[in-house]
Amino acid sequence: MARALLILSTFLLIFFTLIFANPNQYFSETLAPSSLELKKEKLTHLHFYFHDIITAKHPTAIQITRAASTNTSATFFGGVWMMDDPLTVEPNLNSKIVGRAQGIYASASQSEVGFLMVLNFAFTEGKFNGSNLSVLGRNAVFSTVREMPIVGGSGVFRFARGYAQARTHSFDSKSGNAIVEYNVYVFHY
Ligand SMILES: *[C@@H]1O[C@H](CO)[C@@H](O)[C@H](O)[C@H]1NC(C)=O
Ligand SMILES: *[C@@H]1O[C@H](CO)[C@@H](O)[C@H](O)[C@H]1NC(C)=O
Ligand SMILES: *[C@@H]1O[C@H](CO)[C@@H](O)[C@H](O)[C@H]1NC(C)=O
Repeated sequence: MARALLILSTFLLIFFTLIFANPNQYFSETLAPSSLELKKEKLTHLHFYFHDIITAKHPTAIQITRAASTNTSATFFGGVWMMDDPLTVEPNLNSKIVGRAQGIYASASQSEVGFLMVLNFAFTEGKFNGSNLSVLGRNAVFSTVREMPIVGGSGVFRFARGYAQARTHSFDSKSGNAIVEYNVYVFHY
């Protein structure tokens, strides 16, 4: 009798736990990709020009901090800049704007000008309007081609991974202003 009661109460406990369990308390579950409407992975190539304007009435990149020794460093080591740089379809700044590069570059090398790049490309054009890509990489700005990983994205770029290749289109050593050509290759759904 006691045994039957124990079995019954155990059964009831499991039953009510299953019935009344709060679904919001689920911590993890395995999903089929189709449940997020993920179909076939696509490869997209984006091409644009990045305008880093340091010297102007309205600069798009500003130095936000530096070390005491940055001014005397040939590589600006320790200097940190914040950018909100326009991205255009052609090298001309007056050509169509497709987005902005928003983030930080910081001089992280003592042997050459090598920036740590931490930024988002925020796109405003076509089907990419409102979607973003995140970049985390190393940018040795005087190298012909620099490659930086795309570490993720949002909007149509959810689950993004890929790389960006940067080539300097023009650089004015006096003003520090640069136009950089970007080719971005990204897998996403
Ligand atoms: C570095 O140079 C800037 C001007 O370019 C100046 O404002 C700043 O005070 C200097 N910093 C140091 C630590 O000398
Ligand atoms: C991008 O999206 C914003 C907000 O939805 C909208 O105001 C803007 O007109 C769109 N731009 C283009 C070029 O479609
Ligand atoms: C992408 O970035 C823009 C600008 O910062 C923001 O308004 C937008 O919400 C972001 N898109 C997504 C899908 O998070």
